[in-house]
Amino acid sequence: MSGWKVDILTIFPEMFPGPLGSSIAGKALERSLWSFEATDIRKFAHDRHKTVDDTPCGGGPGMVMRADVIDSALSSISEIGDRPVVYLTPRGKTFDQKMARDFADGPGIVFVCGRYEGIDERFLDVHKPHQVSLGDFVLSGGEPAAIAIIDCCIRLIPGILGDGESLLEESFERGLLEYPHYTRPQVWRGRSVPEVLLSGHHKKISAWRREQSERLTRNHRPDLWSTYTAQQ
Ligand code: ADE
Repeated sequence: MSGWKVDILTIFPEMFPGPLGSSIAGKALERSLWSFEATDIRKFAHDRHKTVDDTPCGGGPGMVMRADVIDSALSSISEIGDRPVVYLTPRGKTFDQKMARDFADGPGIVFVCGRYEGIDERFLDVHKPHQVSLGDFVLSGGEPAAIAIIDCCIRLIPGILGDGESLLEESFERGLLEYPHYTRPQVWRGRSVPEVLLSGHHKKISAWRREQSERLTRNHRPDLWSTYTAQQ
């Protein structure tokens, strides 16, 4: 199997694999179910000071990453093939489980991680990367967002999760949040596990879980709940 392939353009290649070297992603990495290469953008700087950024034209705070340097770094990636080039930015389309599935179904991703105020707009005009955001907040750079997105996609790749770990039951798969979970002890601090879960009655358990999923979604995520009810 050739595996799901990730390239990351970054000025902090040492941030990878970071947390992706542990747990599910780490095991899958060892099994070569996915692979990554972090490319240091600084290596493609055109001057001996290795400059990757400059002051914004028109003035203002912060620094802007140079289009020519990132362009050279992107050109160095071998076999982009059908992989989407993803630029991580708060102005991008919000990442969600559906986007994760689409990425996981493909051959991998090439990430461009910006720092500072962002990157020169002309790079975006020329390469038209997918612009993706993790949410309405500002990170200090794209790297933590790339790590979160990779983590989310890897667990969707066939063969990565064991048989016991069903993806269909989990949050967002059917437009609902996942139902609550319980384990031993049967009574803890005077609170019992719901009776129905101990009944062994699979139909009743399913019905209860469904009700709970609906209740949690209605209470915690009215936005998801409206979409869900509109589709029923
Ligand atoms: N870079 C900075 N903030 C970001 C965000 N919210 N999502 C993705 N990339 C980012």
